Amino acid sequence: GAPVEVDISKLEDGQMVRVEWRGKPVWVVRRSDAILKELAGHDGQLRDPASAEPQQPDYAQNQFRSVKPEIFLAVGICTHLGCSPTYLPDSFSEQVSGVSAGFFCPCHGSKFDMAGRVFAGVPAPLNLVVPPHLFVDDHTIIVG
Ligand code: FES
Repeated sequence: GAPVEVDISKLEDGQMVRVEWRGKPVWVVRRSDAILKELAGHDGQLRDPASAEPQQPDYAQNQFRSVKPEIFLAVGICTHLGCSPTYLPDSFSEQVSGVSAGFFCPCHGSKFDMAGRVFAGVPAPLNLVVPPHLFVDDHTIIVG
């Protein structure tokens, strides 16, 4: 499939834009400073906190799983059986105490943090996939 251009100039903290790439949903989310801080605080609850399984390009192999810390991209498909998780920007603490935002898969209850890292004790075996992407400028991303 062809690469897809995403305009993030109007994306505010906590907001997500969804695009389709190769027939798959791709999420682009702007993470606030508070969310970035929160990501450091629950490694012990994650299955693969350092993302050792290669679910991201080399340039996103870091603690935020992204090129720019505030902008997170993921393929919006659960690594269990392929449902699309629900983004919970405000109510994720009902799923994981002390974690304010994340992604919840309604099919069998898998839970992912704001870097797409899977929590332990759920069916999904792997972190969400970070798709290949490139920043053309501060406001424009090419996915693919
Ligand atoms: Fe997401 Fe099973 S498909 S938990």
